Amino acid sequence: MEKKTDDRSATGRAVITGCGSFVPSKILTNDDLARMVDTSDDWISTRTGIKTRHITTDGESTAFLATQAAQRALAYAGLGAEELNLITVATITPEMVFPSTACFVQQALGAKKAWAFDLSAACSGFVYSLHLVHQLIATGQIDNALVIGAETLTKITNWKDRASCILFGDGAGAIVLQRKQDAGRGILYSTVGADGTFWQSLNCQAYGSRHPSSKPLDDPDQVYMQIKGREVYQQAVRRIIEAVTDCLEHCGLTLDDVAMVISHQMNARIIESAAKRLNLPDEKVFINIQNYGNTSAASVPIAFDECVRQGRVKKGDIIILVAFGAGVTWGANVIEL
Ligand code: UT7
Repeated sequence: MEKKTDDRSATGRAVITGCGSFVPSKILTNDDLARMVDTSDDWISTRTGIKTRHITTDGESTAFLATQAAQRALAYAGLGAEELNLITVATITPEMVFPSTACFVQQALGAKKAWAFDLSAACSGFVYSLHLVHQLIATGQIDNALVIGAETLTKITNWKDRASCILFGDGAGAIVLQRKQDAGRGILYSTVGADGTFWQSLNCQAYGSRHPSSKPLDDPDQVYMQIKGREVYQQAVRRIIEAVTDCLEHCGLTLDDVAMVISHQMNARIIESAAKRLNLPDEKVFINIQNYGNTSAASVPIAFDECVRQGRVKKGDIIILVAFGAGVTWGANVIEL
């Protein structure tokens, strides 16, 4: 069931005051992958739009990536870590089972006043986080928050499975939200949803309570991500269209009012197909999957950060963030920058 909030009547809104992103320096190209599995640069480029992805080395963990992105976002916002009220990390590849990745980031930043937790909604995790955190700010529970999406998906990638290993990359993106009594700016609307009947479309089954590490796995490959690509593809196109349409209708916006739609980067063809059906012109659709692959919960904040730093969006613009991922889950946020 869809759950919605409309924050248009609130006196203070959660405004984005900073953003930052970070990817590991090691790059894996399509040609590198073609030496590992039966694939080619041509197949990967044509079917997904991906050319390269950044991958972590053994010493680089999710909290490390998250902290780097967070420091850049705080610097952009001009906010000290010690002033933070809340840190959230959207991730499905956490630092460890517990404690949360957000606690490691809190420690690394020295954000002593901040409470901290992780949010698990796969590729929709960042959009889900904004949906929740902006309400804490708008209702006066907190004054600011650091909202992060961070993943090391290549650590749960089966490098022998050509259907999945070509898709994913590692990285982190972060934004700073602060309460401002500032005209119409801020997060205007969010829509989120889930349908657990499709959990088998995309999952990683090992080491949870169903398959504890004390027992041998039914299938050793359950330690890796498993995807039914076609199923995900069709669901993703449908849900992205629904979520963006919902945003436009609820906020009384036309495509002319929207400066940019920033989608989760799962496959350029999925984004282009949804954009075509929504009649979105190319210049209003941000795509950077060619450089990073699918970084799950990190992809929306990485894309947002690039979009801002490239000057593709500016203060006063209305943008829509939209995502779809395992669960299955989906969601979108309408933001006036
Ligand atoms: O963010 C959510 C997570 N993202 C996803 O779950 C991905 C969503 N799905 C997709 O992006 C696409 O479905 C894929 C990129 C995974 C696959 O593209 P597709 O156009 O749906 O291809 P397909 O699965 O229908 O496979 C077409 C053919 C098959 O061969 P046959 O049966 O036609 O002979 C596959 O075996 O392509 C073959 N194939 C490959 N060939 C070369 C599958 N993977 C590869 C590969 N290289 N890496």
